[in-house]
Amino acid sequence: MKNDLMRFSVAMPEELLVQFDQLVARRGLAKNRSEVVRDLVREALVEQKCSAPGSIVMGTLTIVYNHHSSDLQEKLHTIQHDYFENMVSTVHVHVDAHTCLEVIVLRGEIGLVQDISNLILGTKGVQTGKLVLTPTGQHL
Ligand code: NI
Repeated sequence: MKNDLMRFSVAMPEELLVQFDQLVARRGLAKNRSEVVRDLVREALVEQKCSAPGSIVMGTLTIVYNHHSSDLQEKLHTIQHDYFENMVSTVHVHVDAHTCLEVIVLRGEIGLVQDISNLILGTKGVQTGKLVLTPTGQHL
């Protein structure tokens, strides 16, 4: 164990601890209770940091759509050009004969990243999607 780690103990109801140990087990052998607790604390801090207005964040937007939908690909393309300064990268995967999956990586002020994501998610023909935010410029 590294010297720079501070220790503190946590009291937890048995039922919660049992469920927590199941979560630890699901994350595999490489992580123990302490490491999973640290992961969860970081997760909560990331969420808090990302929710502050003005924060510069990275956003990963995953969308699924049917490429036969009329004009959809053109509309999605136009949005990405309109906000080219916020577009980092796009990965397009042809899932099957009809379905496309796109992962769009965005960077910018939290409110703008959310607005662009909502614009894309709100485009007719986009079947499902989810935005995941990551803060920038802070050590976790
Ligand atoms: Ni495709």
